Amino acid sequence: MLSLRHLARPSSCSRRWAHNIPSFSHLNAVNEQDIAHFSNILAPSSILSTLPSVATPADDLAPYNLDWMGKYHGQANSVLRPRTTEQVSEIVKYCAHRRIGIVPQGGNTGLVGGGISLQKEIVLSLGAMNNVRSFDPVSGILVADAGCILQSLSDYIAPHNHIMPLDLGAKGSCQIGGNISTNAGGLRLLRYGSLHGTVLGLEVVLPDGTILDQLSTLRKDNTGYDLKQLFIGGEGTLGIVTGVSILVPPAPQATNNIFLALPRFDNVLPLFQIVKRQLGEIMSAFEYIDRTAYDMGLKHGLGPLLDAEEVGDSECFILVETSGGNNDHDLEKLNHLLEHLLAADQPLINTGTLSQSPSQFNSIWAMREGLTECCQKEGKPYKYDVSVPLADFQKVVDAVRERMISKGLYGDHAISKVMGYGHVGDGNTILPTSEGRSTYPFVGNLHLNVIAKHGYRPELEAALEPFIYEVVGEYLVSPKALGMDVDDMDPASHKGSVSAEHGIGSMKTHALHYSKSDVSIEWMRKVKQVFDPLNIMNPGKVLP
Ligand code: FAD
Ligand code: MLT
Ligand code: ZN
Repeated sequence: MLSLRHLARPSSCSRRWAHNIPSFSHLNAVNEQDIAHFSNILAPSSILSTLPSVATPADDLAPYNLDWMGKYHGQANSVLRPRTTEQVSEIVKYCAHRRIGIVPQGGNTGLVGGGISLQKEIVLSLGAMNNVRSFDPVSGILVADAGCILQSLSDYIAPHNHIMPLDLGAKGSCQIGGNISTNAGGLRLLRYGSLHGTVLGLEVVLPDGTILDQLSTLRKDNTGYDLKQLFIGGEGTLGIVTGVSILVPPAPQATNNIFLALPRFDNVLPLFQIVKRQLGEIMSAFEYIDRTAYDMGLKHGLGPLLDAEEVGDSECFILVETSGGNNDHDLEKLNHLLEHLLAADQPLINTGTLSQSPSQFNSIWAMREGLTECCQKEGKPYKYDVSVPLADFQKVVDAVRERMISKGLYGDHAISKVMGYGHVGDGNTILPTSEGRSTYPFVGNLHLNVIAKHGYRPELEAALEPFIYEVVGEYLVSPKALGMDVDDMDPASHKGSVSAEHGIGSMKTHALHYSKSDVSIEWMRKVKQVFDPLNIMNPGKVLP
């Protein structure tokens, strides 16, 4: 594992650090003639524009020009809200002809600036395409417009005893098309896997306006290249997702959760091993919250879930969820687990609680899900979303805090909090066992949040970046890091990830090389060139 000294050491990557706003000289701004053309395609109520012929008040465009965090400010003078795939296709054909940049926008809850215009691109909002096209409760296949809100889809299938295979704190606003375009992870990934597995098919409007209809409902289909995978996590740079076919699982018969306080961070990994061994296939989430994040949650009204005295000076907290087929059986297992943990000679936990009712179950989840909003209440968060070895979660958070202290930027005048929470259970599932050590370090998804009390400021960002990316880029998550003989491995392909689940957007284009090799980036560019040779589709996002 890396030492703290190692974490603070600048690497050679810094010479490749530059965050310039890309030039869009190949693109045209939207003008009055363009608006006249769009009004042949769309109803007047579907066109918002500050240009004189429409004269939408700037305030009405503001929600499309500002992201959820209030970090990215767009400059779009026009927003289009199509209702059909054919309308999207007509708009895109015209934009390709006129060289107008397009920013696809879903619920605008993304955390990396991907859905906000960088210059004068037009915003194409999918929110008016919000119909369920079909649902088959027997097979669990749901086909829906991309603009359907995730919570609405959950509500739609709930009476049929199904759930969406993904769940996230933004579910009340984010859209399924946005989820797919960011390949959102969220709170159910441990159980149901990533969207790369659950999405069966997509309908996409390509950057020349062609409708690519791959709205398959087949689970098994090995007929050549699986093009849909390119749009899952494509962040709107290769086309506009307009329809989705997705496999939704049956609702589990029983769900329960426990919340545990751990005296030391070092207990997390051994705890994970015990929990996994004891709960086996019914474990459906294993989420991590550090002390700073927990205290912030309490301050903003989440919990209290545990007795303050029993919590004492616990360093961190773990939420475990089970989803199984028999409530009595699952509760027995959880009770047994808690007893086992508390009765140990050197207990891995200080205290813990098992939810006794649906409302307690929800309160435990609210503590974890509510942290993102609490960060907003504390100030302006710099959000880093990284894959690093679990054993070093705390070390990474401490290293960042110490860096801000050393720069005189820690305190209420600048950075007031540095904290970590995240999805431990989503990591590599190969764990050290009684048979021996795992070949790979156990890697988890850490959400590192750095709160700027009085707002985003260039000197704060300069102290954080590229420092954090270099820390993550230094991790070799590979057999070679463990001394195995793999001669021709390209180390850049085996780094920790600078984006475990939120994506690259405009925030991390210049940090892509910390996690992707030059060869990978070159082939990503070639893919972009094939789909979008005019570079009109979400320009300036993902690729540097
Ligand atoms: P937007 O923000 O509108 O767009 C995101 C990106 O997708 C942009 O690049 C945009 O251009 C593109 N896009 C949107 N719709 C389309 C489309 N139809 N076709 C093509 N491109 C499109 N993320 C996680 O992974 N896990 C979490 O647990 C999680 N929790 C969150 C909790 C909160 C409170 C918040 C605010 C965000 C959270 N996120 C999480 C971030 C996550 O990426 C988004 O919430 C969600 O997936 C984005 O969906 P959206 O509809 O809001 O997309
Ligand atoms: C989460 O897991 O809570 C989300 O990814 C959002 C965040 O990082 O705050
Ligand atoms: Zn997350």
